[in-house]
Amino acid sequence: MTSHAASDHPDIEKVLISEEEIRDRLSVLGKQISQAYEGEQVVVTAVLKGAFIVLADFARSLEVDTIFDFMAVSSYGASTKSSGVVRILKDLDVEIEGRHVLIVEDIVDSGLTLSYLLKNLRARGPKSVEVMALLVKPDAAKVDIGVKWTGFEVPNEFVVGYGLDYDERYRNLPYIGTLKPEVYS
Ligand code: XMP
Ligand code: MG
Repeated sequence: MTSHAASDHPDIEKVLISEEEIRDRLSVLGKQISQAYEGEQVVVTAVLKGAFIVLADFARSLEVDTIFDFMAVSSYGASTKSSGVVRILKDLDVEIEGRHVLIVEDIVDSGLTLSYLLKNLRARGPKSVEVMALLVKPDAAKVDIGVKWTGFEVPNEFVVGYGLDYDERYRNLPYIGTLKPEVYS
């Protein structure tokens, strides 16, 4: 049987964050977040689709009473630029009034998506709302969102893998990487 390193994917230009680095960082964040919510219940809310892999891996290092729920919002489609238009495609199933909410995001770029989500969720009267994002881009610092827990900072390039897609592809790659320019054309 032949095997090859996943980073051999022909469309990947560069691996920015390896599988091991992600695993280690998520387990550290899992411990920190478990401490922060010790003795409390938290509604862990992943934003689909991008956050599904982060959530699955990170969930296993959480040692608090958790309820998992999902939201889906409109995203970029095949484009790599934010449209600024956020639409809720799937709302939470659970009521969050009086509960702690932790939003799990794959990536925060302009922060537009997240600021909309935060406003929307805060209007429902939760006990608290915090954000954990695997990746943040430099522009995220410009918006006053306050991502409490961050995995990694990435440069201002389009990245794929570990849940992140380009035109719905590459989500399955176990690392974060950039695409070769010819993939976009
Ligand atoms: P904003 O700009 O609203 O963007 O903070 C957040 C959402 O945009 C998508 N996004 C990316 N998706 N590679 C991706 O695959 C990227 O480099 C990237 N940058 C932003 C993503 O859906 C995120 O939730
Ligand atoms: Mg997303």
